[in-house]
Amino acid sequence: MKRRSSKWFAKDDLRSFGHRSRAKQMGWNDSDFRRPVIAIVSTWNELNTCHTHFPERVADIKRGIIEAGGTPAEMPAMSLGEQLMKPSAMMFRNLLAMQTEEMLRAYPIDGAVLMGGCDKTTPGVLMGAISANLPCIYMPAGAMMRGHFRGQTLGSGTDVWKHWEERRAGKLSKKMWAMIEDGIARTPGTCMTMGTAATMMIAAEALGFSLPGASSIPAIDSQHRRLGRATGARAVELVLENLRPSDVLSRQSFANAAAAVCLCGGSTNAVIHLTALARRAGLQFSPSDFAAVSDKTPLLLNLKPSGEYVMEDFHRAGGIRALFYRARKHFYLRAKTVAGKTFGKCISADAESFDDNVIRPLKNPLQKSGGLRILSGTLAPDGCIIKISAMESRLLKHSGPAVVFENMKDLKARIDSPTLRANADSVLVLKNAGPKGGPGMPEWGQLPIPKKLAKIGVRDMVRISDARMSGTSYGACVLHIAPEAAADGPLSLVQDGDIIAMDVNRRRLDLEVAPAELARRRKAHQQKIAAVNAKNVNATNKNANAMHSANANENAANENANANATKYRGGYARLYVHHVLQANEGCDFDFASQRPGDTPEPDIF
Ligand code: FES
Repeated sequence: MKRRSSKWFAKDDLRSFGHRSRAKQMGWNDSDFRRPVIAIVSTWNELNTCHTHFPERVADIKRGIIEAGGTPAEMPAMSLGEQLMKPSAMMFRNLLAMQTEEMLRAYPIDGAVLMGGCDKTTPGVLMGAISANLPCIYMPAGAMMRGHFRGQTLGSGTDVWKHWEERRAGKLSKKMWAMIEDGIARTPGTCMTMGTAATMMIAAEALGFSLPGASSIPAIDSQHRRLGRATGARAVELVLENLRPSDVLSRQSFANAAAAVCLCGGSTNAVIHLTALARRAGLQFSPSDFAAVSDKTPLLLNLKPSGEYVMEDFHRAGGIRALFYRARKHFYLRAKTVAGKTFGKCISADAESFDDNVIRPLKNPLQKSGGLRILSGTLAPDGCIIKISAMESRLLKHSGPAVVFENMKDLKARIDSPTLRANADSVLVLKNAGPKGGPGMPEWGQLPIPKKLAKIGVRDMVRISDARMSGTSYGACVLHIAPEAAADGPLSLVQDGDIIAMDVNRRRLDLEVAPAELARRRKAHQQKIAAVNAKNVNATNKNANAMHSANANENAANENANANATKYRGGYARLYVHHVLQANEGCDFDFASQRPGDTPEPDIF
């Protein structure tokens, strides 16, 4: 088969002369043109706290590529560091996907190694690569080692939230809090609890995108270096075999990924990301499909936040292959993988489990069915999600009066006020934290327990929002409400004191307000939003040139339900707010490819 890069390098014409002569400027020689060119898409920068080992790993991957007869080309892409990016790394997932897709398509690339780990980097690079549909393999960042605090293990996120509640309740000193800060992140690598990073690294392996066993190897383990080398080598073989994402992915692969997430007690974010990935692959896999898998899949992995251990313990106990082998009846074993063998062959019988406390046997699961439930009802007509494996079970059926916060600023200002009219039965509601409203659907869904309730020992309450939640979080938090408040969903109409009823077993979430009253509120809400939009448009008219004014007027006319549509008048934020889809559709852009090949290969003249 003719390699893609040969279209750039092989011809005896002026254009190819230019390509070759400038490649030689970088030190390439003639033999480099005859080999498969393998991009190493590296999501590294000096502010992504979790990818600090990537430069070393890039060197390992290059070694593997060269040994297998390829030409490596490191190609940095936007690094989405979950900790430091605002308003939310999620807002830039689609930008990373666009970068990855267009970079692979525009350059003379035959295949790619996709390096991701910190939360949104994994779905970002995979979404782009699925659309570009070149042979590619995913290299997970690996998790960091455990944190330490006075002889106890500290788990990323999970133990921060726990100790922060203690601190807010006045039960943890400043000195102890500082000790936690110093001890919780000790090595390179992603969060070592079952947060979104670990969840998506495991989901990527279950989708068939990485080498067997890759996703549970700690970032600083020497095995991780050898994985990098093997991954680089396999990328070259993938090109020779012409094995592309469209050859690997199927509905069965997505069911396998969902099963893997449920077996691990994975992050609710996986539902959004897998929905987006399936959409890119032209496959149907919705949150309801995910929920159907969740209903029949047990939780076996005893990791924080649902359980006790961290990723390092998981690896010691046999790692991901041991878990997959133990739970093999929950997978489609004939699904394909980039390893060149079926999923079943990747988890053959040599994958032993060494610790039944960490990887529970099927007959002694942590929970009989998966920890995620999709709810719907009058408050969430297009659905929402709750993680029941990490909440107090007494709240599975609950109804109580709403305590409403219009946005995050409002919440910050009032949540700890001694006069807040909330008790342990209240339902805390946060609006305008969704894809358009955040914007970028920040991880604000674990609303803090009001200080006055924390002080009297309340540790969990029903909390409802259109936001997401970190996979390391816990509590009775209903997330991803669709449509969101900023898209004029019923959430926008909730007022203090309204009764909200949740029944997880019946999969219901309802706002118990009469339809006539809701209609009255909707009319008033739309008038209010129209006034905000008019104010934004006036500001634009005063300050901007004629073109900007025209855009703002058009925004106001088309999207008067969404005040952010006129607030963000330019740049990426404008693109995002106007084109992002709702959570139940994966939060991808409405114009993104919906099957590989939607964008044709570039003409090379
Ligand atoms: Fe990077 Fe958690 S902050 S993985």
